Amino acid sequence: MPKLSREARYPVNLTLNGRKVSGNAEPRMLLSDFLTHEIGITSCHVGCEHGVCGACTVLLNGDSVRSCLTFAVQLDGAEVETVESLGTVDELSPLQQAYREHGALQCGFCTPGMLITTIDMLKKYPLASDAEIREGLSGNLCRCTGYEHIVDAVRAVAKARTGSGK
Ligand code: FES
Ligand code: FES
Repeated sequence: MPKLSREARYPVNLTLNGRKVSGNAEPRMLLSDFLTHEIGITSCHVGCEHGVCGACTVLLNGDSVRSCLTFAVQLDGAEVETVESLGTVDELSPLQQAYREHGALQCGFCTPGMLITTIDMLKKYPLASDAEIREGLSGNLCRCTGYEHIVDAVRAVAKARTGSGK
């Protein structure tokens, strides 16, 4: 990448949830701020802003990343997915439905990051045991639920996916 001026704003073109979007970002602008303030996405929650809580997690080219640790200017041409890509209020995705059925959220602040992390985990790992689910979710903090119901929801989706029914 060429040297950037600290003061200038640079165009950033992304595919966000399957749609082309554009905005401008100073070199120090974080992806979380870009999505919220330039694009108007409301699900990208910022808790700690230093990579600990996982609330700001989005998918970047298919992999989960902390948007508070990612600079927007690095992402021109990238594909980003947020929780808005999953389902709607009227038509929840199977994973959202499982979170709802198992009571896997209370205040909901951590939920977008939890869902996005879960999507990534479901693609990559069998999630055959609760230990595996807990390890996969260990980078996402929740102050409300005690995690049990989140694990229940993820287990239900993982088992439905494998058809094990256990
Ligand atoms: S706000 Fe990004 S990890 Fe906490
Ligand atoms: S539901 Fe409140 S922080 Fe997780």
